[in-house]
Amino acid sequence: MSYYDDIAEGYDELHGSEQLAKLKIIAQYLQINKDTKLLDIGCGTGLSARVFDCNITGVDPAEKLLANCPFKTVKACAEKLPFSDNEFDVVIAVTSIHNFNDIEKGLKEIRRVGKNIFALTVLKKSGNKDKILILISQLFSNVRFLDVDAFDLICFCE
Ligand SMILES: C[S@@+](CC[C@H](N)C(=O)[O-])C[C@H]1O[C@@H](n2cnc3c(N)ncnc32)[C@H](O)[C@@H]1O
Repeated sequence: MSYYDDIAEGYDELHGSEQLAKLKIIAQYLQINKDTKLLDIGCGTGLSARVFDCNITGVDPAEKLLANCPFKTVKACAEKLPFSDNEFDVVIAVTSIHNFNDIEKGLKEIRRVGKNIFALTVLKKSGNKDKILILISQLFSNVRFLDVDAFDLICFCE
């Protein structure tokens, strides 16, 4: 059981408003319609469904967080995604990358399953922040940064 399984019951109360604020900002910059296939990496309790009205799939290794997720989910890690190449129109990862056991492998998997629109947030206080930012610039193209709050740097890339 992970830390996130342990806090699953109180997750939304603890982190909900902060995470929703980030998701709302991301939504302003993405063109999403009802048919858009969106993959949410480290989807947690599924807060993204409150912001995106589209075909969402979520992955997360914390089973208890997924229990009440409002969209279809797969219990999996970013490092081994059970999806085909280019399967999703849009892939988002909100405050989840610093948790990956193998960050490079996880980012490569994200790149593999997405077509060309990615929104990846990087926790500023993570000890792996610089490593993550370097990997994002190496593995993705047209990387643009949005620095809007004290918590995460938002990267939009292709
Ligand atoms: C801070 S929470 C963010 C959850 C959600 N994105 C949100 O905004 O509410 C970090 C999430 O990353 C997930 N996570 C941890 N290791 C992961 C991995 N290897 N692959 C994908 N997600 C992972 C955790 O289980 C947790 O749900």
